[in-house]
Amino acid sequence: MHFTLADLVTDITQNASEAGAELVELEVREDGGEFRFLVRDNGKGMTKEELERAVDPFVTDGVKHPHRKVGLGIPFLIQTAEQSGGGWDVKSEKGKGTTASAWFDTGNVDTPPVGDIPGMFRTILMFAGPEDIHIRRSRRRDDGPVLEYEVRKSDLVEVLGDIEDTGSLVLIDKYLRSLEEEA
Ligand SMILES: Nc1ncnc2c1ncn2[C@@H]1O[C@H](COP(=O)(O)OP(=O)(O)OP(=O)(O)O)[C@@H](O)[C@H]1O
Ligand SMILES: [Mg+2]
Repeated sequence: MHFTLADLVTDITQNASEAGAELVELEVREDGGEFRFLVRDNGKGMTKEELERAVDPFVTDGVKHPHRKVGLGIPFLIQTAEQSGGGWDVKSEKGKGTTASAWFDTGNVDTPPVGDIPGMFRTILMFAGPEDIHIRRSRRRDDGPVLEYEVRKSDLVEVLGDIEDTGSLVLIDKYLRSLEEEA
């Protein structure tokens, strides 16, 4: 299977965006050999039983979307993290929101490649639903400079107006790529 950690982050952030949240916060951090992300939303949340179903691989078995590369939700995230020496954590409160995080050892042969981070942020910033999306990014590679930036959907909307038109998309893409390449 060809998929990336960016695909997993996109999928989990999509869940948060579909949960009726006003605010979705995403942190994506790379530090040495570890890739870690956290998605927090103030959407509908899940009861203990709903969360148990959501993490159950037999509930989401890929039948719903047989042609999709990824999109197997939380069970797929869990499986990928566990089989590559990483870990995960999902906490949810009904009516309050959900926080999902996972971490990966990028040196493990079973860990998927990181993928296109700025492209992933662009996709996520376009998710309809949340009033605002806050992204926090950091990257610290051995012997390299530290990269750190934040992007807010509300700031982009303020500057660009309609962020969904083609011109805005191109600008946002360039902007995100410049942030990622700064270091
Ligand atoms: N952040 C969240 N807030 C509230 N409910 C969630 C959240 N994430 C997942 N869920 C619940 O868990 C269910 C399973 O999520 P999962 O991503 O596995 O499948 P899906 O989103 O329904 O379908 P797919 O991702 O394949 O399109 C969701 O339908 C939703 O009810
Ligand atoms: Mg989903």
